[in-house]
Amino acid sequence: MTAKEIKAKFIRFFEERGHARIPNASLIPENDPTVLFTTAGMHPLVPYLLGESHPLGKRLVGVQRAIRTGDIEEVGDNRHNTFFEMLGNWSLGDYFKKEAIHFSFEFLTKELGLNPQHLYVTVFEGDADAPRDDESIHLWQSEFASAGIEANVGVRIYLYPKAQNWWGPAGETGPCGPDTEMFIDTATVGEGRPSPHDAARYGATCHPNCDCGRFIEIWNDVFMEYNRVKSSGSGAWSSERNSKRNSDPRPPTPDQYRYEPLTQRNVDTGMGVERVTYVLQGKETVFDTELFSTIFASFVPRLAKRDTRSERIIADHLKAATFLIADGVTPSNLDQGYVLRRLIRRAVRYGKLLGMADSFVRSPIEATIATYKEEYPYLTERHDDIVSVAVQEEKRFRGVLAQGLQRIAKLLAASEGRSDRVIDSKTVFELFSTYGFPVELTEEIAKERGYTIDREGFKAEFLHHQELSRQGAEKRFAGGLADHSQMSIRYHTATHLLHQALRTVLGDHVFQKGSNITPERLRFDFSHPVKLTAEELTRVEELVNEKVKEALPVKREIMSVAEAKRLGAIGLFEEKYGDEVSVYTIGREGEAPFSREFCGGPHVTNTNEVGTFRIVKEEALSAGVRRIKAVVE
Ligand code: ALA
Repeated sequence: MTAKEIKAKFIRFFEERGHARIPNASLIPENDPTVLFTTAGMHPLVPYLLGESHPLGKRLVGVQRAIRTGDIEEVGDNRHNTFFEMLGNWSLGDYFKKEAIHFSFEFLTKELGLNPQHLYVTVFEGDADAPRDDESIHLWQSEFASAGIEANVGVRIYLYPKAQNWWGPAGETGPCGPDTEMFIDTATVGEGRPSPHDAARYGATCHPNCDCGRFIEIWNDVFMEYNRVKSSGSGAWSSERNSKRNSDPRPPTPDQYRYEPLTQRNVDTGMGVERVTYVLQGKETVFDTELFSTIFASFVPRLAKRDTRSERIIADHLKAATFLIADGVTPSNLDQGYVLRRLIRRAVRYGKLLGMADSFVRSPIEATIATYKEEYPYLTERHDDIVSVAVQEEKRFRGVLAQGLQRIAKLLAASEGRSDRVIDSKTVFELFSTYGFPVELTEEIAKERGYTIDREGFKAEFLHHQELSRQGAEKRFAGGLADHSQMSIRYHTATHLLHQALRTVLGDHVFQKGSNITPERLRFDFSHPVKLTAEELTRVEELVNEKVKEALPVKREIMSVAEAKRLGAIGLFEEKYGDEVSVYTIGREGEAPFSREFCGGPHVTNTNEVGTFRIVKEEALSAGVRRIKAVVE
């Protein structure tokens, strides 16, 4: 079965069971500052998991592209990818554990034809925040029993604590809950695999959550019935699960958060397409399917040296880079741009290790486009941009890579015999600023030679030189998690006010081209041919502040696309829900509204909650597109 067939089967299976299909959203969460990237299918659904009503109803299904930066260092083994696709079904306060577990078992065993003998599941063992999930244990027992298989705790069903069997929130706070995960025992499935269980290869004490690679997690059913909120005075910012994934050096302590019951009980599931495909095809790794074959074929024959792990890293990173650029990211030293830079530069360095003398990223990138172009037609539309951004970044780095490596070699030679084996922060910073070595790359090279780096010192150096706010930098070093606060919601509404103010002052040719919100600022990209004058900027700023002072209500409505258009709603059309759309209107009942936009929310309920609005920067982004950064105080 091909990946495409698996995706189609999944969508059809859930559509037949009353689920409506939702769009595959951008890798860059449009209005969610809690994360740098879409890491799971539930990201675009956060407001609905919290209780807003979804225009398509309570049962949803979809396939979502995702990026997980916490897995970058793991890439090269049998199952980790930076970019992957996730299938998911959701219940927004509709069905719960019984149906979710039944759907999962039925789909895996009947639709995909997996032998239930190869299936193992894990369940939350309970703690002070939430009880042991006995209901799931019983439900699994009866599903297995229906296939004539005995299952019990310790036999096919394994219990784990929060670190393994709890998912979310995606950012610091938000919907989350205990989960039940499904694993395939690859030692006993598929053609040509070592069978039966090979203790020497996998370890005699191997269990479903062990890291040896024998048991592959293919699906996760999360029972999102809790909202994690910050206890007062907390300074932590990372989710249990993401902290593990992002090697967060400061795992949160339990008293920093409280878990409150949500108003509705949701189901959020995620099935990794790459994993289920390779397992079903009886292949050895995620890299052995049609989702990678063309990409490998595009560069492997040109390599002077062969190394499986390095080749996988190149293929994985350039695939992720392709999708990131297609979603509008460009390499930089900040946020998403930094991750893209890190991916491309790491791939380039591995290319060099394998003897690639010249620029090589074009072919794997074109092969990625060829692999995915039917399901992601915009890859073809953006083909030239994607290739040129990546090739430029490769050139920039190749120009300094050899010198940077020489610099490291010299430094290590000079420090030979010293006992500390640490690369000092000044050198790490020099490699970063002069030779363009992302700190993680320097760390990796250091590690290969038995050294570590002074990362804390580098951070201080970086902050000092870049004059970035501590939070901004912390965020990046932590793997991109920021605070999902009331502040961001205020910025979200401020963005709508700004969008309309720009149209009022400059004209109706102004349209949103992009938007990004953090708890510290908003960034808004829009179409306009020339630099704004000082007077125009003042007028825009004043208009926004006027509307804040007028204390206008902000109201959400679900309506047909035709009705929204008739009412003059503006904004990006990405979030389409069949014929229905969610529209936010700012204005008093009975008066002509100031702003009306297609948008999923969330927003403040009255503009007086936004605060004083101030534009801090206006600049060109590209031909015909301007960028404004603004704060509310
Ligand atoms: N959001 C859950 C996951 O990503 C389903 O595993």
